[in-house]
Amino acid sequence: MSTAPEVAGAEAALALVAPENRDPPPIPEMPHPPRGFHASMAGYRATPLRDAPRAARRLGVGEVLVKDESERLGLPSFKVLGASWAVYRALVEHLGATLQEIPSFERLREELARARPLALAASTDGNHGRAVAHMAALLGLEARIYVPADMVAARIAAIEREGASVTVVDGGYDAAVARSAEDAGPSCLVISDTSWPGYERVPAWVIEGYSTIFAEIDEALARAGRAEPDIVVVPIGVGALAAAAVRHYRSPGAHRPLLVGVEPTSAACVLESMAAGHIITLKHPQTSIMAGLNCATPSLIAWPLVSRGIDVYVAVPDAYVAEATRLLSADGIVAGECGAAGLAALTALAADGHLADDPHLARAREALALGADARVLLLSTEGATDPEAYRRTVGS
Ligand SMILES: Cc1ncc(COP(=O)(O)O)c(C=O)c1O
Repeated sequence: MSTAPEVAGAEAALALVAPENRDPPPIPEMPHPPRGFHASMAGYRATPLRDAPRAARRLGVGEVLVKDESERLGLPSFKVLGASWAVYRALVEHLGATLQEIPSFERLREELARARPLALAASTDGNHGRAVAHMAALLGLEARIYVPADMVAARIAAIEREGASVTVVDGGYDAAVARSAEDAGPSCLVISDTSWPGYERVPAWVIEGYSTIFAEIDEALARAGRAEPDIVVVPIGVGALAAAAVRHYRSPGAHRPLLVGVEPTSAACVLESMAAGHIITLKHPQTSIMAGLNCATPSLIAWPLVSRGIDVYVAVPDAYVAEATRLLSADGIVAGECGAAGLAALTALAADGHLADDPHLARAREALALGADARVLLLSTEGATDPEAYRRTVGS
């Protein structure tokens, strides 16, 4: 790993290496993989898997591959994969039909004529709500989206451009989640990406929806004749995407890379829950520039997978994001703050000054064994979702 100096004045990253002898989570088979449905949506194509040689040099590893989710079904983040599958499943159920009877997006739109007026409600720290609003617009449904008080204007405007009504809730992401849940009723379906007691099926579909990302990665590697990664780095908000990664890479017979979960230090609800041994809710406000990761409570249904399937949990300070964004930009990849989180976390671990007196960081670095042979796969989960901030960071 490079000996580049740590970011001046940055707080230290946090890390936790999972105990070695945890039970692996039992992974049930997915009865209906969502890929076929996604492929039935206009504009579907697999997102690119890109080489990032500058990032690889910075980390001193053999190869960095980036799954680039900056353009996914017309939106700048991966989230529409989960939102679209969950909306589809919830609507098919609402119509009293089976998946076989409504096998495609077009068919769903036709069948919905008999169900209107109907609304979709969601809470969001940006991308999920925009994706639900986008789906509602495509399907001719109303969308009601609830957002935390500190959401930047650009993200609210992007949701409104999808035709949704946006309500700013007094509080953080958890407050927005609670408010959206109140809308549930016969003429409004709540499509949340997080779960709580009694609300588990829709967020389980969201997790399933993300499986398309990993199916595409496997295909792209096989097509190019490239080796599987040793390390897969996943950003974590409530943990739904990380749960999908665990599902994929810990299924029987799957290739088993080391899985690294990354959160901001100000919103490290999964790392703190791991340290506590159970789900906790952070008491302080979540203020990271990695807006999509600003979550205070892990998702109830993601937790069993995330707590038993991720190998190394890292919390990264915001100060490391800008350099990671610029590195990825130099490699031709537009990564928003959450997209750059994985590379930021690995560079933070490389910051020697903090390692000297922190045994957890040293253990994490040892577990990762980043070296000249290591093959790293980063999930860059969003493009420039706050375009002004992106321009300030990369300078163009
Ligand atoms: C861009 C981006 N990356 C990663 C995540 C984290 O996903 P999850 O909340 O499923 O952990 C989010 C969540 O909103 C996001 O918007």
